[in-house]
Amino acid sequence: MNLIFLGPPGAGKGTIAAKAVEILGIPHISTGLIFREAMNAGSTLGLKVKAIVESGALVDDATTIELVKERLAKSDAAKGFILDGFPRTLAQAEALGQFSKIDKAVNFDLPDSKVLMRLGGRRVCRKCGHNFHIMYDKPKVDGVCDHCGGEVYTRDDDSSKVITNRLLVYREQTAPLIGFYREKGLLADVDASPAVDEVVENFKKSVGL
Ligand code: AP5
Repeated sequence: MNLIFLGPPGAGKGTIAAKAVEILGIPHISTGLIFREAMNAGSTLGLKVKAIVESGALVDDATTIELVKERLAKSDAAKGFILDGFPRTLAQAEALGQFSKIDKAVNFDLPDSKVLMRLGGRRVCRKCGHNFHIMYDKPKVDGVCDHCGGEVYTRDDDSSKVITNRLLVYREQTAPLIGFYREKGLLADVDASPAVDEVVENFKKSVGL
């Protein structure tokens, strides 16, 4: 199954994708995670995108499309994939349609008030990327990842000023993709407000599981 996860920042796309990987046995491909790993490694890509990602703006389409095209060409994506955070512009969606077939675009819907609460309390493992939350899902040992022992930190783009910008960018550039995929008959809406287990069940129904 080839899936796209849409939805505002903090809707839970990464969290549900981690659960969906266990259910479906297909890779989770997050462009945000790829950029953060590159930034942590100080690679050429990381240095190029650092200021953009930290401001909440979008990395240019050409760089992002090429990166996803290369990732989808890897053998593990042949059996299916979850694209989380891509496409984010109409140009990216059109490009994706040229090199891949999509079965469903799952739209995780969450009001802005909940976005602020989720992102304000999010903590992330620097090593494996696992998401935690200071209220809903704390690591067992403060600052240490339960899964790999990595350092749990606050993302640079989770400050309130940058969250506001990310929401603006989402409304202007990414939300139009909901209509794009609805018109193609590929959209499945999922209410992302309930607790994680319930959202997972809503997701499973939305893709016919
Ligand atoms: P990216 O990493 O994709 O950020 P995002 O889309 O803003 O999404 P988030 O990762 O913030 O949120 P999420 O929906 O995954 O929520 P999560 O599961 O973490 O992108 C970062 C940046 O990279 C972009 O701003 C841009 O600069 C660049 N970029 C990436 N892709 C790009 C592209 N295609 N083109 C150009 N630039 C690109 O959950 C949030 C919190 O809530 C967590 O703490 C979690 O524990 C908690 N939580 C989740 N679900 C629940 C629940 N049901 N109940 C309670 N708590 C929950």
